[in-house]
Amino acid sequence: MKIQELDPNDDSVGYGGLPNAEGVVQLDASCMHGPTKRAGAVGALENIKTPSEVAKLILKYTSHIFLVGEGAKRFALSFGFKEEDLLTEHSREAWLRWRANLSPTDNYLDVPDSDHLVVTKTGTINCDAVTPQGDLSSVTTTSGLSWKIPGRVGDSPIIGAGQYCDNDVGAAGSTGLGEANIKVCGGFLTVEHLRRGLKPTDACLETLKRVVAETEARLLDAQGKPKFDLVFYAVTKRGEFGAASLYPNHFAVHDGTDAKIRDTAYLFTRA
Ligand code: GLY
Repeated sequence: MKIQELDPNDDSVGYGGLPNAEGVVQLDASCMHGPTKRAGAVGALENIKTPSEVAKLILKYTSHIFLVGEGAKRFALSFGFKEEDLLTEHSREAWLRWRANLSPTDNYLDVPDSDHLVVTKTGTINCDAVTPQGDLSSVTTTSGLSWKIPGRVGDSPIIGAGQYCDNDVGAAGSTGLGEANIKVCGGFLTVEHLRRGLKPTDACLETLKRVVAETEARLLDAQGKPKFDLVFYAVTKRGEFGAASLYPNHFAVHDGTDAKIRDTAYLFTRA
C-alpha cells in the first residue's frame, strides 16, 4: 500500500491522488487485523502521503477506530509524519482542466474541444491477505472520487464497507464507486456470504446483486445496468480467493512467490 501511496504516477491513492473540487487532495484509508480483532481508519486526511500507515497507527496505538480531517492530520504529525503538498504537476493540471470545463458561463475559459478532457474517476486499492496459518488482514486506501465535494468521505475508510476482516472466516474489500458500496456495507456483507459457505467469487457476485438492487434510477441506464463500476475482492481463512465486478475487470493475486493478474467474474457487459 505504502509503495503505491508514495508513487507520484499513481493518481488514485496518496501522493499525486486526484484532488477534490477545490484542488485539495483528501485521502481515506482503513485496515483491520484479524488475530487482534482491531481496526483503524482515517477520512479526509490532508497533506499526509500515506493514509494507510496512519490508519495502522490508529489501530495499534489508540482505543479509537476512526479519525478524520484536522484531528487525523495532527495525530499523524505527532507520530513524525511530514506535512507535504500532495498535488503533483499531473494531478494539478487534471484538476485545472476539470475546473476550466465545468461550465461555459463561468470565469474560467473552457479548454479547446481538441484537448483531452480528464473524466471524473475513482481510484482505490484494496488488499486482503492470509498467512499460511490462516490469519487474515485487510486494508483499503484511496484519494476518493476526483473533484468530490470537499469533506466527502467514500467507502474506503468505512469499516464494513471499504474492507472487512473476520479471522474465523475471511476478508473482503472493494474498489469503485464508494456511495454504491456504503449502502450495502459491502465488505461486511461479502464476509457474511463467505460465512454461510459461498465461494469467494460467488460471495462477491451476491454482494454486487444487492448493490444493483439498491441502486437509484438516476444511476441506471435504459437497460437497468449501472452507469458505474464496482469491484469486490475476497479471500478465505483457507486461502481461497476471488473477485467480481459489475463490468469485466482485473485483479492481482500474490501467492507469496509470484503475482498474477486475473479476470474478475462480472454481472454485465458494456454495449
Ligand atoms: N471507492 C473509493 C471511493 O469511492 O472513494
